[in-house]
Amino acid sequence: MSESKLVAYEVINRIAWVKFNRPEKRNCMSPALNAQMMDVLCELEFRDDVGVLVLSGEGDAWSAGMDLKEYFRETEAKGHGAVRAAQRMAYGWWERLRWYQKPTIAMVNGWCFGGGYGPLYACDLAIAAETATFGLSEINWGILPGGGATKVITDLVPMRDAMYHAMTGENIDGRKASEWRLVNEAVPLSQLRERVTEIANVLLKKNPVALKATKDVVRRVRDMTYDSAEDYLIRAQEAANSYDNDGRKEGLKQFIDDKTYKPGLNSYDVEKK
Ligand code: COA
Repeated sequence: MSESKLVAYEVINRIAWVKFNRPEKRNCMSPALNAQMMDVLCELEFRDDVGVLVLSGEGDAWSAGMDLKEYFRETEAKGHGAVRAAQRMAYGWWERLRWYQKPTIAMVNGWCFGGGYGPLYACDLAIAAETATFGLSEINWGILPGGGATKVITDLVPMRDAMYHAMTGENIDGRKASEWRLVNEAVPLSQLRERVTEIANVLLKKNPVALKATKDVVRRVRDMTYDSAEDYLIRAQEAANSYDNDGRKEGLKQFIDDKTYKPGLNSYDVEKK
């Protein structure tokens, strides 16, 4: 990997380990990093040897949020058009990640501030080190939590906690982030990669078409009425069937006819056709 790469990745056993790779700047997101991240996401998304994507950070940070110098001050100096272009680039890869073809896991190894909440939310699952630090630091330097951060905290965390977090700029650690459900769970840093690998391996055994459909509907139905959701879920399953109508039939067969597994206890063998 070349030194100038702001995003690093390697693929091991069908897991793409993608890293913010700017440790000397605590992995804060500059326009250049955002552009590289979009390229890496595009490169990996439809590769057959990638089944799960994990996003982590090199060094002691996950991401210290937006780059105050290169993303804010320098683009503002170039004018409104440059600001909008920088926003499109950042929001663009977060959106790409929210609707990514493969399941995604945020492996939060350290600092996670402000704009970092965008990619944190974009990942389907999030596992943090107990010692990771989360903060909406925007208020500390005089702005509101933009770039989706306010939406993220109010979507995931009850209003009183969200309000306190946003107004005081007080940080929480990984354990508290797990209590608040900002992340799924927190584990000691020394066990973080092992735990994430374990979860990734569970996902790798599932039907990939069903996984993509599932992650999308979980995000989509949040804003729907019950009736709209019910109707949408019928259509979404039928659409998934048009990509893979055999998988679920195989799943039924392995339970009902072959009796090789129980869906209540584990997954059907997706390798067997
Ligand atoms: N934007 C721009 N530069 C940043 C940055 C950010 N968000 N976060 C860290 N850096 C830079 C620092 O300016 C410093 O650069 P320098 O070596 O050229 O002086 C370098 O990264 C190391 O940061 P430093 O503050 O010395 O590291 P630390 O380990 O003592 O502290 C943090 C880590 C994350 C607590 C601290 O860097 C920080 O508060 N960063 C800003 C976090 C923030 O408010 N993000 C929200 C943006 S929306």
